[in-house]
Amino acid sequence: MTQPGRRISGFKPTGHMQFGNYVGAIRPTVEGQHAQPTVVFVADLHALTVTHDPHELRELSLEAAGLLLAAGLDPRRTLLYRQSDLPAHTELHYLLECVASYGEVHRMIQFKEKGGGSGTRLSLLTYPVLMAADILLHDIVEVPVGRDQRQHVELTRDIALRFNERYGPALTVPHAVHPPVAARLADLADPTAKMGKTNASTNGVLFLLDPPDVLRRKIMRAVTDGGTEVAYDPERKPGVSNLIDLISACTGDDSDRIAADHGTYGALKATAVDAVLAVAEPLQRRYNELSEEDIEETLRAGAERASERADATVQRVKEAIGLTSARRAPAGSRGTPRTAPAPR
Ligand code: TYM
Repeated sequence: MTQPGRRISGFKPTGHMQFGNYVGAIRPTVEGQHAQPTVVFVADLHALTVTHDPHELRELSLEAAGLLLAAGLDPRRTLLYRQSDLPAHTELHYLLECVASYGEVHRMIQFKEKGGGSGTRLSLLTYPVLMAADILLHDIVEVPVGRDQRQHVELTRDIALRFNERYGPALTVPHAVHPPVAARLADLADPTAKMGKTNASTNGVLFLLDPPDVLRRKIMRAVTDGGTEVAYDPERKPGVSNLIDLISACTGDDSDRIAADHGTYGALKATAVDAVLAVAEPLQRRYNELSEEDIEETLRAGAERASERADATVQRVKEAIGLTSARRAPAGSRGTPRTAPAPR
């Protein structure tokens, strides 16, 4: 049933994709897709957990898919689709809500950070369970994510283990894997914060579609640390170490080697500009060559391919949990009347 090592990555279209997404998830996924079966999806349902603009959501979903293709995702090898095109996600979500507890989702850091007020969408509380459904739907073994998502993968494991214990072994239990460097790329203007699509200020966020001169300016203005020595020391020198992480993630070079090769912060920033542009420029060129129709067609075909395994998982879960299996009821057998019985 389970192919060894199948991986999944999801990207939430709440804003424009940025370099944290690239180094933390896109690059490892693209590099791993030839060695391991891979599933990648645009997590548009997750974007509904916070205030959103319907038109913008549609645009951002297509942009995310286009950037994934431009970054080298091969849709003939890798399953690429949009989450809302595959109804099995929401069906499994509900079934798993009946296995997860209020206490465990309430503890999730992202809810503590973003939720709280009485106007908070209920879906923000339950979205880690939707994320669990995303992963469990495909019998995933490895989830390559940045450190920010580790807690959600732990929750997914807990839900899968509990389900299997209660109802029999219907679900594959996954685990998180992290890229060797830049598991958490920080905001260039505030090295204590994560670089994110929705950060209040965009000064320290490198968007994948930022024009080259904007990327250059943001990097040259990056906050560095006291002193003048270039050293890789995330505790004492978070700003400098973040720039080293960024270079290392883009070039594959070793962090200490990068530090040793640079005498000044200015020289380090100049290398960071070169490393980032060497990724961004070809990526933007390929992105601009893609048409909206091509992206839509790729997503549609992906959802169709994804549905076979996803539907089979939902069916397995429904049977295990005690819901009537429509598939197993023989035609014309008792209990499947063609017309509704008279109300009692
Ligand atoms: P999202 O859209 O916030 O981020 C997508 C991926 O990018 C990684 N990432 C980072 N890595 C390093 N440094 C950063 N600054 C940085 N910012 C983002 C994230 O770890 C993630 O891997 N809930 C998920 C989407 C999702 C998902 C899933 C992922 C939904 N279902 C199932 C994996 C499996 C999210 O908000 O990702």
